[in-house]
Amino acid sequence: MILQILFVLFVIIFSSAAYAGFSAAPWLPTRKKEISTLLNSIQIKNNEIVYDLGCGTGSILFALANKYPNAQLIGYEISILPFLIALSRKVVGGKKYTNVSIRFKNLFKQNLRDADVIIIFLLNSAYKKLINKLQSEVKIDCTIIVEAWPLPNLKATKIEKTENALSLYFYQGSEFKNLV
Ligand SMILES: C[S@@+](CC[C@H](N)C(=O)[O-])C[C@H]1O[C@@H](n2cnc3c(N)ncnc32)[C@H](O)[C@@H]1O
Repeated sequence: MILQILFVLFVIIFSSAAYAGFSAAPWLPTRKKEISTLLNSIQIKNNEIVYDLGCGTGSILFALANKYPNAQLIGYEISILPFLIALSRKVVGGKKYTNVSIRFKNLFKQNLRDADVIIIFLLNSAYKKLINKLQSEVKIDCTIIVEAWPLPNLKATKIEKTENALSLYFYQGSEFKNLV
């Protein structure tokens, strides 16, 4: 009986990971080097809302929480294993991470109208769907940070390249409004 339960759990966890891989990207954590570049290249004000779309184990959000305890940091994750790890990190962090919210939700179905900063580390095959969504939802002064692959047909306002690390591309919400 225990083996059967374990097998069912494994199938559920594996299926959610496979779904995430097909939906937007498999779980691949952002490394410390890229997180450090990210932290050095943005300024987040008190009460600003930051989304990590596909937050994995929450590494970016928890690093941001240490630096910006008054920002609202929200992560959407659809793969069960990284979601549970992120949730455990939040619980273990206790008061340190009260401004971090980890939500088991499909990123494509969440409203991003109140976002001040959006962080994206997904496969570029997901960009078309994502850009359509951002175009209709983001505020003109929202900052969109994309890791690894630049967004097509949009000019980055800033690019952070660090040796042996993935590049970070910065965009403004206003640019999405000009897209045809
Ligand atoms: C490349 S990882 C990035 C993880 C994290 N943002 C980081 O930088 O460490 C992409 C994440 O997106 C998640 N994901 C893929 N499709 C998703 C969807 N439709 N909704 C929510 N999360 C999704 C995956 O499970 C994976 O954890």
